[in-house]
Amino acid sequence: MKLIQMTDIHLTSSGKTIGGRDPYINFTRALEHALTNHPDAEAIIITGDLSDWGEKTDYEVLREIIEKLPISVHLAIGNHDDRATFLDIFPEYEDQNGHAQKVFQLSKGVGIILDTWGPETHAGFYCSKRCEWLQKALDEAKGPVSLFMHHNPIPTHVGPTDQIMLQNRELFGSVIKKHQQKVSNIFFGHCHIPLSGTFYGVPVFAPRGTNHAGFANFKETTLLTASDLPQAYAVIFFDQHSTTIHMIEFGYEGPLRIEGSPDYETWDKEFTMR
Ligand SMILES: [Fe+2]
Ligand SMILES: [Fe+2]
Repeated sequence: MKLIQMTDIHLTSSGKTIGGRDPYINFTRALEHALTNHPDAEAIIITGDLSDWGEKTDYEVLREIIEKLPISVHLAIGNHDDRATFLDIFPEYEDQNGHAQKVFQLSKGVGIILDTWGPETHAGFYCSKRCEWLQKALDEAKGPVSLFMHHNPIPTHVGPTDQIMLQNRELFGSVIKKHQQKVSNIFFGHCHIPLSGTFYGVPVFAPRGTNHAGFANFKETTLLTASDLPQAYAVIFFDQHSTTIHMIEFGYEGPLRIEGSPDYETWDKEFTMR
């Protein structure tokens, strides 16, 4: 089974850039790159910050784009989204408590989209109602479960990023701890930096976003840091005994030197010590 994770697409009205980059152009570039190189992927999951300002037109544009794709797409909301506006355009995501969450079937197991949105804040929340919903979804899930959420449940240890991470992670963690045998992976976004680690023994991963990039700047303790690192998405391979995740930097514009080509020969002679 192969899945694609994209994160922090931050759609804006046409032509409005963030960090000098156009989110709409970069999102469509990411889709084209993923579909060309991984036509056998069975789903794309976008882990939040779908819109930069939670505007209705961004969700309308997103719906229009994904309805035309030859692959199913599943969405999580992030701090830049507006839950009510998102649910106006994507009502099928609303759970019984009004959160934007859902369970979807995969060829090997189940995917669960979590809503970590909180009003008037960039930080993430997973309240007791959402925990109850997740508990039930995990109890009912047959086979391994991949969780998809926006906010990081693990600290990055970069001060300003951690101020807006998932706040009540002990409560969320108590559900994960109970089901750590069933939850195979947790995928998230929000930080705009690639991350991996574990949460209550469950492997966690985040790629850089499809538009603007952050940087793990440990020297800066209060303010977020941006960079010009390439735009990226992730491709995730699951087999019987392993999970392999690549962060694909589709925004990289430098050369790719294939072994055997003249370019590669020159590079090999110049840079390889034998
Ligand atoms: Fe973001
Ligand atoms: Fe975010």
